[in-house]
Amino acid sequence: MIYWLLVLAVHSILTEAANSSHHEKHHAKKPHDPLHERDTAYAAVIGGNGQVADGWPRIDQWVDSLETMFQSNEEIISVSCAEWGLPNSSEDETQFIKDVIYQVEKSSGVDARFIFAIVMQESKGCVRVQTTKNGVANPGLMQSHDGPGSCNKDGVIQNPCPRSEILQMILDGVEGTPAGPGLKALIAQEGGTADVTSYYKAARAYNSGAVASSGNLGQGGATHCYVSDVANRLLGWTDGPSLCAPDAIGQIPAALWDGDSSAGHTDRDGTSTTTTTRILALTHGSSSSSLSAPSTLIVQSSVTWTSARASHSSTSLACRREGN
Ligand SMILES: *[C@@H]1O[C@H](CO)[C@@H](O)[C@H](O)[C@H]1NC(C)=O
Ligand SMILES: *[C@@H]1O[C@H](CO)[C@@H](O)[C@H](O)[C@H]1NC(C)=O
Repeated sequence: MIYWLLVLAVHSILTEAANSSHHEKHHAKKPHDPLHERDTAYAAVIGGNGQVADGWPRIDQWVDSLETMFQSNEEIISVSCAEWGLPNSSEDETQFIKDVIYQVEKSSGVDARFIFAIVMQESKGCVRVQTTKNGVANPGLMQSHDGPGSCNKDGVIQNPCPRSEILQMILDGVEGTPAGPGLKALIAQEGGTADVTSYYKAARAYNSGAVASSGNLGQGGATHCYVSDVANRLLGWTDGPSLCAPDAIGQIPAALWDGDSSAGHTDRDGTSTTTTTRILALTHGSSSSSLSAPSTLIVQSSVTWTSARASHSSTSLACRREGN
């Protein structure tokens, strides 16, 4: 059930990007212009089934190249191991990540930007990231399905991490392992590269093994915000707060864009209406594990109405409850 409430107060409770609790504080940001800042912010809370018709990004909306994407993430990579108390990735190791992603894009046909988005989501590019174990061992840069690639095997840390091992980690994630499929097979399984939706579904399957029977990519997953976060990375998001709330995302049927995207229509008499939505915050429900816990979305809508004779603009703030 979704309903609107009158706004009483604006809370700005933002969630942190997945496993990235500290580096905002720890790394010195290069001064950059506000436009760049805007481009690296979380662009939309993306709910639903991965369909472009529901506002999921088209492939031409993705960051134009791996080169651009890499540039805005390089600083994050250089300090990301600190989060796990491990030696940071060196410049050489960081360069190898990029090189081998290009290499594996060539051999596998999987878009380099998609591979890199998964790398950032899984490990923040920490070449010595530990193996996580939730039933299955997930080692390496892409936290693969029990693959052989890792520079932190059974507590043995390789420093420097050799290029061959970095390549193996990317191959494990993209080509799969004896224990489970990688991105390439999952994209094919979910419909192939002709439809961008296949990438979003593949990301869900990579994180949790399958797409929930409802088709909603925020449901049934190990990490509910995984696909919304990955889609935002493909749009340029780096390490600012994620606006996706794990308790709410599974109930949001479509993409809720922040700021610069607007929905508009023009009537036959020439009157046009444009609505711009800015998501200010999405609060967590009371229980972090229950999908049915209500969450509150704080939305600012600006409506601009223009006819041949007049133009009018108004802004409203509202809270929307998602859930029961
Ligand atoms: C990694 O980089 C961060 C930020 O500069 C620093 O605080 C941390 O000590 C570094 N870690 C190691 C092990 O060098
Ligand atoms: C980081 O989070 C992703 C989910 O977004 C998870 O699959 C991965 O294992 C996590 N990485 C580490 C090193 O904990």
